[in-house]
Amino acid sequence: MNNRKIVITIDGYSSSGKSTLAKAISKKLQYNYVDSGAMYRSVTLFAIRKKVFNSDLWNVQNFTSLLKEINLKFKWNKKYNRTDIFLNKENIQSKIRSEKVATKVSLIAQLPEVRKKLTLIQRNIGKNRGIVIDGRDAGNYVFPKSELKIFMKGSIEIRTYRRYQDLKKRGYEVSYEEVKKNLIYRDIMDTSRNISPLKKPVDSIEIDNTFLSIEEQLNFIFQLINKRKK
Ligand code: DC
Repeated sequence: MNNRKIVITIDGYSSSGKSTLAKAISKKLQYNYVDSGAMYRSVTLFAIRKKVFNSDLWNVQNFTSLLKEINLKFKWNKKYNRTDIFLNKENIQSKIRSEKVATKVSLIAQLPEVRKKLTLIQRNIGKNRGIVIDGRDAGNYVFPKSELKIFMKGSIEIRTYRRYQDLKKRGYEVSYEEVKKNLIYRDIMDTSRNISPLKKPVDSIEIDNTFLSIEEQLNFIFQLINKRKK
């Protein structure tokens, strides 16, 4: 495989399997993996802890003045063979997966100041290329010149099932219907927000993985990568 380092963006709907692919690709290529959803979730956890959602809108708007207190870092976790996210030196990798965070994250993700801060961090990690990033606006906005843009989708049932299984495995008490409702809500919020909405980049390759195994998806993507790296 040619050694030219490229930027690979993987955008798509919630629980469409973006991170599974992004992790596998980054491991194989030894690239940095950026889970941008984890960053939005981390800011949301911070906001919940600051009780931003306990009263009215005023609080959410004023939340932006607290953004400077947030320091986010990704670090490799040898024990679990994965990248963990740290908020002000605290490992919050597991805490950001809760449904509480999932129900509030869309509100935080629509704040321009939050997007600006997280976009800067993402571009900085990717400044020397050699990065796989998954999210909603990675191909359209954060890295518009990336060499490979993937756009993921899958039926709402398969996405709900995957997320439900994942949450159960982690020990969260949730119902299938609750998970489905949250995914539908986030799809609507992600695609309809004014700033950096989720939208298939025109120059992206679409993968609908409703009926595709992970191996099939990876085989297909590595063929694309090999062409792009030449
Ligand atoms: O990928 P995820 O489900 O962990 O992302 C959580 C939320 O963060 C998602 O509902 C929308 C928001 N998000 C975003 O607005 N922009 C990104 N690049 C990534 C995530």
